[in-house]
Amino acid sequence: MTAPLRVERPRPGVARVVLDRPELRNAFDDVLIEKLTETFEALSSDDSVRVVVLAGEGKAFCAGADLSWMKRMVTYGPEENRRDAAALAAMFRRIDTCSKPVVGRIQGAALGGGAGLVAVCDVAVATEDALLGTTEVRLGIVPGVISPFVVRKIGESQARRWFLTGERFSSAEALRAGLVHAVVPESALDAEVDRVLDALLLGGPEALAESKELARRMGRLPIDEALEEATGVIAARRASPEGQEGMRAFLERRSPSWAARSAS
Ligand code: COA
Repeated sequence: MTAPLRVERPRPGVARVVLDRPELRNAFDDVLIEKLTETFEALSSDDSVRVVVLAGEGKAFCAGADLSWMKRMVTYGPEENRRDAAALAAMFRRIDTCSKPVVGRIQGAALGGGAGLVAVCDVAVATEDALLGTTEVRLGIVPGVISPFVVRKIGESQARRWFLTGERFSSAEALRAGLVHAVVPESALDAEVDRVLDALLLGGPEALAESKELARRMGRLPIDEALEEATGVIAARRASPEGQEGMRAFLERRSPSWAARSAS
């Protein structure tokens, strides 16, 4: 059996994770879920990787859960069903908490769990003709484990609408809802992803990891707790070798060590 996913290293500091089941529009079954979880686990702790791109081979980014696999679950007992759903939840959580910025490259369709994958990307770039949607209700199921990530990304108002209508919506609508961050013609997709990578590679690696955590968590903490935590984080960053190098480089009008490395 061919691997349902491949990892490329298109430029220094960048890992590109490509879902590779194009004949099934990159729908994910238990094997792909396990691979994706393992891959993000490894990339998250790999110091040579500073940014991750998540992409899908072929006509569509990702058609969500593999419906043939989901259908087979009727033969599973409740315990096995729970275990499978928990593995899916762990996959989304692993990507969401990846210590490196994750950039989504979205073409064709991102439906159901595919839209969930878009929601756990830090920056998502989509083609003009891409269609997104949480279509689960039309199959008699629900946008289960993706719901916390999608609701956090686009808010309750948009989530209630899209979860219930199950409609597919355009990337322009996804842009308005905050699910994607840029919409470009298909011919400009890679150039726009590269532009985002250029920007991300200018950030200090530790600063990026800490800033991602701040963005993920701060909106949900009570203000006193948020400020207490943020005070500790900035105090530590200022005094860190990376923070010192970044500020010194600015004052000396040169590139910091990490930006010089990525320019090779
Ligand atoms: N699970 C399993 N197989 C899927 C799939 C899924 N989620 N999505 C697509 N496929 C399969 C199709 O059955 C088809 O298989 P076949 O060639 O053996 O007939 C193949 O992938 C290509 O799909 P097709 O619909 O012909 O491609 P398309 O390019 O015209 O459309 C989509 C692509 C993604 C828009 C369309 O396949 C689709 O709507 N898929 C269902 C998405 C969905 O509802 N996901 C929610 C899951 S919770």
